Amino acid sequence: MIITIRNDRYIRFRLLEQADAGKLIVYFDSLSDETRSRFGPHPFDEATVYQFCQHPDNTIKRYIAIEPSEEKIIAYMLLRKGMTEGDHQRYAARNQFFDQHNIVTFAPSVADRWQSSGIGSAMYNCIENELRSKGVKQIVLWGGVQATNEKAVGFYKKHGYRLAGSFWHDEKDNYDMVKWL
Ligand SMILES: CC(C)(COP(=O)(O)OP(=O)(O)OC[C@H]1O[C@@H](n2cnc3c(N)ncnc32)[C@H](O)[C@@H]1OP(=O)(O)O)[C@@H](O)C(=O)NCCC(=O)NCCS
Repeated sequence: MIITIRNDRYIRFRLLEQADAGKLIVYFDSLSDETRSRFGPHPFDEATVYQFCQHPDNTIKRYIAIEPSEEKIIAYMLLRKGMTEGDHQRYAARNQFFDQHNIVTFAPSVADRWQSSGIGSAMYNCIENELRSKGVKQIVLWGGVQATNEKAVGFYKKHGYRLAGSFWHDEKDNYDMVKWL
C-alpha cells in the first residue's frame, strides 16, 4: 500500500517479509541510542531478526514502511494478539482486566531522521482501521511508555489513548495507556 505523508512525499507500507531481514538489521543499526532506549520489544541482533523472519510467529504482525527511492526501511511497528505476560500482570495488579481475544498490544518505531514527519500517524491510521474491521476492542502499549518520552506520549494522546496507570521500571517512571476502539 502507498501512503502519502506531509509535503506530498509518499512511502510504501506493508507486512515484513522473510527477504527483509537484511534491511531490518540495517534499520536497527541506524537507530540512535535515544530511540533504542525508548523502543525495545525484542533484541535487535542479527540472530533475533533472522529467527523471526524465517520462523514467523503467527501471534505477531510486523509492519514496515519503505522509502521508495532508497528502498530502505524507515519505520517498523509490531502488533501482538493479546497482552504480554508482564503487561497483563501489571494491569491485573490494578484490577484492570481485558478479554484477551479482543485486545492487541502495539509497539511503534520510526527512523530518527523521519520522526515527527507524519509517518507514525499515517501507518497507525491504517493499522487502526484494520483492527476496527476485525472487531478488536482495545489496544495497549507493549511495556508501556516512558513518562519522559514526550514524542510518544504526544503521539498516543493524539490518537486517543488514555492513561490507565503508571509504574516504576528500570529506574524510570512509565505510563500504561489504552485505546478503546
Ligand atoms: C513515537 C513515534 C512512533 C511517533 O511517530 P512519528 O512519525 O514521529 O509521529 P508523527 O509525526 O505522526 O506525529 C504524531 C503526533 O505525535 C506527537 N509528536 C510527534 N513528534 C513530536 C515531538 N517532537 N514532540 C512532541 N510531540 C510530538 C504529536 O502529537 C504529533 O501530532 P502533530 O503532528 O499533530 O503535532 C516516533 O516518534 C518514534 O519512533 N519515536 C522513537 C521510538 C519510540 O519512542 N517508540 C514508542 C515507544 S513506547
